[in-house]
Amino acid sequence: MTRSAGPPAPVSSAIPVATPVAIVGAGSIGTAFAAVFALAGGAVRIWDEVPAARAALPARLATILGDLHAAGLLAEPPAAVAARVAVHDTLETTLAGAGYVQECAPEDLALKRALFARLDALAAPDVPLASASSAMPASEFAAGLPGAGRCLIVHPGNPPYLLRVVEVVPAPFTRADAVERASATVRAAGLHPVLVRREVTGFVFNRLQGAVLREAYCLVRDGVASVEDVDLIVRDGLGLRWAVVGPFETVDLNTRGGIESHAAKLGPAYARMGAERGQHDPWTPDLVAEVTRQRRAALPLERWSERVAWRDRALMTLLRARDGRAPTDGAAPGDGPDPVPGRA
Ligand SMILES: NC(=O)c1ccc[n+]([C@@H]2O[C@H](COP(=O)([O-])OP(=O)(O)OC[C@H]3O[C@@H](n4cnc5c(N)ncnc54)[C@H](O)[C@@H]3O)[C@@H](O)[C@H]2O)c1
Repeated sequence: MTRSAGPPAPVSSAIPVATPVAIVGAGSIGTAFAAVFALAGGAVRIWDEVPAARAALPARLATILGDLHAAGLLAEPPAAVAARVAVHDTLETTLAGAGYVQECAPEDLALKRALFARLDALAAPDVPLASASSAMPASEFAAGLPGAGRCLIVHPGNPPYLLRVVEVVPAPFTRADAVERASATVRAAGLHPVLVRREVTGFVFNRLQGAVLREAYCLVRDGVASVEDVDLIVRDGLGLRWAVVGPFETVDLNTRGGIESHAAKLGPAYARMGAERGQHDPWTPDLVAEVTRQRRAALPLERWSERVAWRDRALMTLLRARDGRAPTDGAAPGDGPDPVPGRA
């Protein structure tokens, strides 16, 4: 009915393609990707230009693996997974014989341009060179390289060992075989690749996040809500629901008659909210018809009630897992154990 990336895989499975995997940059995302590929049984090499980052990698990886193990999400001993990750002192040895390259260096255009020129010169021909870039498309830093056709974006959510969906964004010059190889590699590592059909700044993940953040900043600026209250409304409201259904399915299930009915009833109010922010992107009849067509293909209206009940049960399961109890147990949902020191 509706696709899902599914829960984190609790067991390791051998990566059939493209190992060893080379990771360039050992910060938050590089370390997390090292965990992802090693958890799937792959051999991982990782290099960072900064020696201190290379030295810090084993302890940071051990923390991640230890936490996964403690949460019951890792069947193997953490040390066995960590043993598949080799920290290299040079980019040359990291890339020699690698079948897939995941670049995770800072979000800096000049840096990525220079780095991709090096990666293209060193990695074997046809090996995909994938960037974790959050917002910059590959066109901005890989155009004109001799191997531009193997360059693309593979953008994760943070952290990818828990958020198991990645955006695969080819540039107009990226070859189909590079897209296929990169997608197969991340799929074999238990990630769900989503092909972004056209290069846009921020891709899909960060454009959606950006829309929420832009409004959140405005609401704080205008004194409508505090930072904590915005976070609370997302954490225990919008975001909780988004953990089981996306924004389209949310309104499809919230409105009798489905998303078409929602657009008719609330479209004008959303248009006014957009206009207040200087935005004019009307939900035209054609656009609403296309969204409705895709939703009805995913969920015929005859099954709407069944799906609403499923959403509720999924939220109940989620709340039990998150708070250790249902919201009807007496306390407010946000009152469960919270590891942030000092937070009310
Ligand atoms: N943090 C996130 O939430 C997130 C999510 C998805 C994608 N990204 C993207 O992933 C990339 C990495 O982000 P991060 O959060 O891991 O950053 P980070 O600052 O944690 O890590 C970057 C690492 O790159 C190293 N580095 C600097 N110059 C380098 C070079 N020339 N070659 C190799 N390594 C170099 C740094 O020493 C550092 O260890 C960025 O493009 C970022 O936008 C970040």
